[in-house]
Amino acid sequence: MASAVRPAQPAASPETGRPELGRPDLGRVWWVRSGLEILGGRLAIAGQDAEALAREHGTPLFVYDRRRLAENAERLIAALDRAGLHHRVRFALKANPDPAALAALRDLVGIDACSPGEVLRALKCGWPAEDISYTGTNVSERDLDVLLAYPIHLNLDAISQIERVGRRLATAGGRRRPPIGLRINPGAGAGYNEKLAYSGARPTKFGIYEDRLDEALEAAARFGLPVDTIHVHVGSGWLGDGLEAFEAAIGRVAGIARRLRADGHPIRELNVGGGLGVPARSEERPVDPDAYAAALRRALGDLVEAGVVVGSEPGDYLAKDSAILLGEVVTVEERGGTTFVGLDIGWNVNCSYFIYRYAQEFVPCRAPDAERTQTVTVAGHINEAGDVFAEDYPLPPVAEGDILALLNAGGYHQAMSSTHCLRPHAPAIFLDR
Ligand SMILES: Cc1ncc(COP(=O)(O)O)c(C=O)c1O
Repeated sequence: MASAVRPAQPAASPETGRPELGRPDLGRVWWVRSGLEILGGRLAIAGQDAEALAREHGTPLFVYDRRRLAENAERLIAALDRAGLHHRVRFALKANPDPAALAALRDLVGIDACSPGEVLRALKCGWPAEDISYTGTNVSERDLDVLLAYPIHLNLDAISQIERVGRRLATAGGRRRPPIGLRINPGAGAGYNEKLAYSGARPTKFGIYEDRLDEALEAAARFGLPVDTIHVHVGSGWLGDGLEAFEAAIGRVAGIARRLRADGHPIRELNVGGGLGVPARSEERPVDPDAYAAALRRALGDLVEAGVVVGSEPGDYLAKDSAILLGEVVTVEERGGTTFVGLDIGWNVNCSYFIYRYAQEFVPCRAPDAERTQTVTVAGHINEAGDVFAEDYPLPPVAEGDILALLNAGGYHQAMSSTHCLRPHAPAIFLDR
């Protein structure tokens, strides 16, 4: 068993009973930022000692630095402003539907919803219907019972979906013919990996391909639905080096928007989806928001001068690095030459490697910047061989009983949690700096 690094425990504060923390030690590791720091040699989130939170609330535990959600939104909005774009940023609610997380974004952005439940959640959390854009797939009549009950904007991603919506509005007997968006599949995409590219050479289930665009427009015209938005989501998790592929895909979609405008369609928004990734390891390159905005500026060109609004609907970019997931090391054991570090966390609360193959970074709360001297596999407590979080992974020495923090646990972690193996959901606490 590896021996643990145990720096002296700082003295407890007489007021809070928690360890008294020193001044931030910024810049020694790649992930340190305001709100996620090394204080007194220990990991602190929103100014609070991470291990103390784990001991107080138990593990696994999500801990949010709520201010980070707003900071991420503000950074993106500022970059779009600087590039001179007319824009509308909407949070992809699927990334984190917790009302406590949504509250941090309520006054900054609109909402991208992809299910009736998400629409109802956004309405309940205070977003007016007009600030909600819906882009779903395989939409049923039951879905439409809810979706058509509110004046939300719909982006439709199949010809049959346009016809289904058209039929429903026609049979409702009213004169309501709201403008719709068309989700396009440009056959070019970007993503953290192949699985996360939603459009590309391989046909995917999303969007209307260019070769059937005229049919889609005819269907919309048949039902009297004006087309005011072109939507695309080319994929998720792409990083700095994916920006070029993203720009190329948006360039193709901008060409479609131009064509439709020339044909008299009242296109007022080009919704470029989400997809901006967040680095999980020191070697991953972040997306520079100014470079993102500049890429959009170039791809849209004259459409910007024509007043076309850029819709951007990031999920992970706003939420991912707003939380950590704390877990206890319950096993450190060598098997067949591999050291396994077993945690009391399962893929039921941390599916991001299991499902998406996103890299994961673990940080020991007592020694966040300790040298990573061993190579391990970090695994979970679900009875499945695939329940691992990091393989051939450099980690500082750890021992059973230590608390590890998984970084980047604010997007799609809580949202996708299940009770598989009857392992419960992990509770979440939201801290305000
Ligand atoms: C249509 C649409 N918009 C936005 C998003 C948000 O993606 P991300 O969290 O990668 O920004 C998704 C994710 O699947 C999506 O399908």
